[in-house]
Amino acid sequence: MSYEKNKREQRKDDHIQLAIDHPDSPRSAFDEIRFIHQSIPSLNIDEVNLSTTIGNLKVNHPFYINAMTGGSKRAAEINEKLAIVARETHITMAVGSMHAALKDTALAHSYMVVRQQNPNGMIFGNVGADVDVDLALQAIDMIQADALQIHVNVPQELVMPEGSRQFSTWLSTIEKIVTRSSVPVIVKEVGFGMSQETFSQLMDIGVEIVDVSGRGGTDFIHVENERRSLKDMSYLKEWGQSTAVSLLEAKPFPELDVLASGGIRHPLDAIKCYALGAKAVGMSRNMLLLIEDQGIEGTIEYVESFKEQLKIIATMLGASTLQELQDKPIVLSPGLISWQEQRNLK
Ligand SMILES: Cc1cc2nc3c(=O)[nH]c(=O)nc-3n(C[C@H](O)[C@H](O)[C@H](O)COP(=O)(O)O)c2cc1C
Repeated sequence: MSYEKNKREQRKDDHIQLAIDHPDSPRSAFDEIRFIHQSIPSLNIDEVNLSTTIGNLKVNHPFYINAMTGGSKRAAEINEKLAIVARETHITMAVGSMHAALKDTALAHSYMVVRQQNPNGMIFGNVGADVDVDLALQAIDMIQADALQIHVNVPQELVMPEGSRQFSTWLSTIEKIVTRSSVPVIVKEVGFGMSQETFSQLMDIGVEIVDVSGRGGTDFIHVENERRSLKDMSYLKEWGQSTAVSLLEAKPFPELDVLASGGIRHPLDAIKCYALGAKAVGMSRNMLLLIEDQGIEGTIEYVESFKEQLKIIATMLGASTLQELQDKPIVLSPGLISWQEQRNLK
């Protein structure tokens, strides 16, 4: 194995292990949002239908396994297990960044295994905004992706010892991919959230779907700082907007399809995301922990229970669809109100 290849595969495995060992966030901005309990029910649980759309894709369940891995032996094993879970539970799954396979075709199987295990499922590809446009299109073909995520991860690159330092072409690369892609393109953060300014920039170049992937779950400044010899950038932890704040930032952009991920702990967090306008919710680290600890069977059980609990909470709120959840009153903490005011979000 060449030195370069060895380093890349090692980084993939580092990310998996550091994400597993990652501390849970001590607090969540989702706890700063409350629903109002109502005593008189307005519907039966079997009337709840939380199917959704992402761009022009029809999706049965409004949550998905978000991008994580590929590009090493361990990553291939994880992807295979997660793909079986996605197939058995009919949920969408994104693979991790496909650059490893685009650089070295010997690693393609660690992503293609997801399509092999789930030939008819909804699968998203994943590339970075520094990708060559032709290679991005190859990534779509490699796994017959139903949509392509383009991750934007500036803080991660900058804290990563061997990360990129060149970002000025990202926007034009995203624009070219949007123009040429045959499938919907989702511009996705990796845990630092998004802002009104970012949404405006992306809409100006034709982006229609974003995944705000906010702060509150996996923190890639923490992960990459652990890989620095001096571990000297921990003061930047908690950089970025929480997922809840990112969704507030997205309110002035009703034409955008907004997906939410980053620190989703349980179905109530997901329901709060839908109430704030998210069309679907993604989970990464929790799915990794589940597949490692509970295996395929335990993870399937978790996903089925998650689906049921979404319906339970929607019933408590008297909402039969995601759209109706958006009309339910919520109360925000003084901190979130202040954010809204300072950012002119009302
Ligand atoms: C081990 C691991 C690897 C990841 N690799 C990628 C990646 O290759 N591409 C990407 O867009 N996001 C990647 N992410 C980020 C997630 O998709 C997600 O945005 C972030 O982890 C926040 O979600 P969480 O709090 O549910 O983990 C990765 C996350 C984890 C835990």
